[in-house]
Parts: sequence; structure tokens; C-alpha cells
Amino acid sequence: TALAIAIIIAAYLLGSVSSAVLVCRAYGLPDPREQGSGNPGATNVYRLGGRTAAALVLVCDMLKGTIPVWLSYLIGINPFLLGLIGIAACLGHIYPVFFHFRGGKGVATALGAMAPIGLSLTGLLVLTWGVVLVITGYSSLSAIVTAILAPLFTWWIKPQFTMPVAMLSCLILFRHYENIRRLLDGEEKPIVLRRWRR
Ligand code: G3P
Repeated sequence: TALAIAIIIAAYLLGSVSSAVLVCRAYGLPDPREQGSGNPGATNVYRLGGRTAAALVLVCDMLKGTIPVWLSYLIGINPFLLGLIGIAACLGHIYPVFFHFRGGKGVATALGAMAPIGLSLTGLLVLTWGVVLVITGYSSLSAIVTAILAPLFTWWIKPQFTMPVAMLSCLILFRHYENIRRLLDGEEKPIVLRRWRR
């Protein structure tokens, strides 16, 4: 329907607003596309600027997924279209029209888009991400493991959303191609402080 298409476009445009670039500008930090991993996301902002700036990026990037999906859910849009709206938000984040199509990896935005499915799913995803991060120190590996498990958790908790969540997971995994290569080559940079891990 016309309404759903309008929402998909709006979700893409909202997703295209790069919180990482804007927050770094506001905090006088280096451009996250030029330093660290070069990725405009919460992880890299944490590397460059620490906790507060990273938390702000995380929340804003999540809201880019949550707002369009949740509003659409409230007006009764079906699960398949909700999935497309979530994907549009992530595609905006990954290929932002306002930032020369050079965006992030969609982890926070996908989590935000899945959040309206419910607190138990969101809790499981955050827990998985956190446990893998604490054990391994790699934000990317945490995202990869969480993306693989997300469709299984969803199938278990709210089966009608399995397909849309699986589509989001595929997008995240595809976008972590470079991280997967770095992980396999032993060249990925951990983000947890060393003294924590030794
Ligand atoms: O959220 C993105 C994360 O999974 C990887 O980020 O900066 O380590 O490539 P980065």
C-alpha cells in the first residue's frame, strides 16, 4: 500500500542520519569514518571518545530502528512489512543518502528495529551480545554471534517474526564481511580494556 511505501522511504531517510558522525562533531572528536576502524558506529565512537559519546550514538542509532517499526506496528502494519521497514532503516544506516552512502554496520539499528517484538527477545539479544563481548573482547564477533542466534530466539519467542528478523540478521552478517576476514586473520581489534582481560 501507499502508506507502507511512504513509511519505508521515511525509515530509510531517518536511518540515513549518521548519529556517530553528528555526535563526534558535537563532542569535538575525530570523524569516526577516518579513524579507528573507520566505521561510523557506537563501537568505533567508544574507541575514539569513550563511554558517554558511544552510549549516545547507541541510543540514537537504536531509535532509528525502533521509531518507524513501532509506529507502524501501532497502526496495524503486518509482520512482513514491519520487517521491510526495519530493513529500510538499517539500509539507511548502512548506505546513508546524506553521508555519501558510507554508513555503519546496522547492529544498533537492527536491535532497535527488533525491540518492539518484545522485552524478552531484546533482553536475550543484549545478553548474548554482552556475554560474547566479555568473553572475547570483540564487538564485531558479539554482533555476528547475536545475529546468528536472533532468528532462533525469535522463532522460540514470537515465531511470526522469524522471517523479518532473519532478513535483518543476513544484512548484519553480510555487512560484517571485513570483520569476519579480520577475525579469521587474527587482525581484529578488541575493544575491552586489556587490564580487564589479563
Ligand atoms: O557495531 C559494529 C561492530 O560490530 C563492529 O564495529 O568498528 O569494530 O568495525 P568495528
